[in-house]
Amino acid sequence: MSEVSYRTPKGTHDLLPEDQRYYTYIKKAVRHRARQAGYQRIDTPVFENRAIFERGIGEHTDIVEKELFTVSGKNTDDDSVEFALRPEFTAGICRAYVEHGMQQLPQPVQLYAMGPLFRYDRPQKGRYREFRQFNFEIIGLQDASLDAQLILLLTQILRDLKIHDRLTLQLNNIGTKENRKAFVAALKDHFIGKERNLPALDQERLRTNPIRLLDSKEVDTQILLKTAPRMDQFLDKESQEYHETVMEFLTELEIPFVQNQNLVRGLDYYTQTVFEFWDQSSGAQNAVGGGGRYDGLIELLGGKPTPGVGAACGVERIMWHMKEAGVEAPHKDQVDVFVAQLGPEAKKKCLKLINDLRNLGIHTVGALGEASLKSQMRLADKFQSRYTVLLGQMEVKEGTAIIKDMAAGKQKGYKFEMIIPEIVKLIGEKNLDTYTMKDHLGEYE
Ligand code: HAM
Repeated sequence: MSEVSYRTPKGTHDLLPEDQRYYTYIKKAVRHRARQAGYQRIDTPVFENRAIFERGIGEHTDIVEKELFTVSGKNTDDDSVEFALRPEFTAGICRAYVEHGMQQLPQPVQLYAMGPLFRYDRPQKGRYREFRQFNFEIIGLQDASLDAQLILLLTQILRDLKIHDRLTLQLNNIGTKENRKAFVAALKDHFIGKERNLPALDQERLRTNPIRLLDSKEVDTQILLKTAPRMDQFLDKESQEYHETVMEFLTELEIPFVQNQNLVRGLDYYTQTVFEFWDQSSGAQNAVGGGGRYDGLIELLGGKPTPGVGAACGVERIMWHMKEAGVEAPHKDQVDVFVAQLGPEAKKKCLKLINDLRNLGIHTVGALGEASLKSQMRLADKFQSRYTVLLGQMEVKEGTAIIKDMAAGKQKGYKFEMIIPEIVKLIGEKNLDTYTMKDHLGEYE
């Protein structure tokens, strides 16, 4: 035996078949809602020029400063470019919008993406180094109704997945860049002479990105913030009105929300609306999703000034909530028929039988390598197959086979050529799993 025991890298995990049921169901819900609302799918590279993330997300954010996975560009055509694994979708999608001239398309352009992202974070519950998101972007138009519609879309998906009632929607408006500049200046003033009372990490934040003090979990910081200037005192009239309109629309759509002055988000590109879906029990820790408006991002990435709004949800955290809430993800992995056989002739006949059953849309497995009938029947039980077709030497000689109903424990012999029609009858024509191929590509020749 080898001494080596390999494991997944720290902060990563395997999505095993039992998790795939949830993942597949989540993807289905997302695709369905995205299609209904006119979004189109986009996939961007898993790694990009790291400057895209630095410029887009912000150099002094945790995501860029501490959590970027850099990728060595060894032997590439362009050694001067440094790459990083994507820590989020938005910057890459905006890069694609500019690169492919999507401003020529009718606006807004609505795109969605799903897949893995990477953040070199300290792994803990719900926080991984490789995780998955589904992500929506509406680019090219600024209107409060779009912000509300995006929040509605996420709300519907979270409802579809039966976890919406475990979450609260936190909402804020962080104004324009100028509003924030004035607010940050006032915040810095407020902390003059109080720096030493802040924990080390927050002293650093005060220097590099003071606005992040607002969502600090440190008690000392929170106490000092009680007397600090508030963001809403610095919002211009337009931002205030914008915020009012978003809230009006959410109310009209009957979406409950909590106004949260301290919600600032961990990415620098946001302007105006920001929001997060929090776990009711743990609050800001392990938000299930979040997003907001980013009207300056496209310009930062070299495009014409173009507004945008978007959001993303963490798939692992959603899966965790579904499991906690006892939501069973429906799936189509059930085995309809297990084919058990004995003897070389029977095996030969079963090869074709299995294939014919599968082509008809019947989920069929057969343990063609197994020796005794008894061990094959044990396997049939393990697969929880609904029916077993048995073909022994005797049946081959007689041109028959047996169908066993596994739940009822009853079995009956049939002429071999009647096995397929009989199984179809038992399962029911409408339950055959043939939908996808027929729908998209037409029938096989
Ligand atoms: P974010 O808040 O950084 O936003 O991430 C969105 C969601 O991804 C989080 O609410 C969480 O569920 C999940 N997530 C983030 N980091 C981790 C992690 N280390 N482990 C597990 N799950 C995680 C964004 O990424 C923005 N790009 C959203 C957006 C789109 N804004 C505008 N458009």
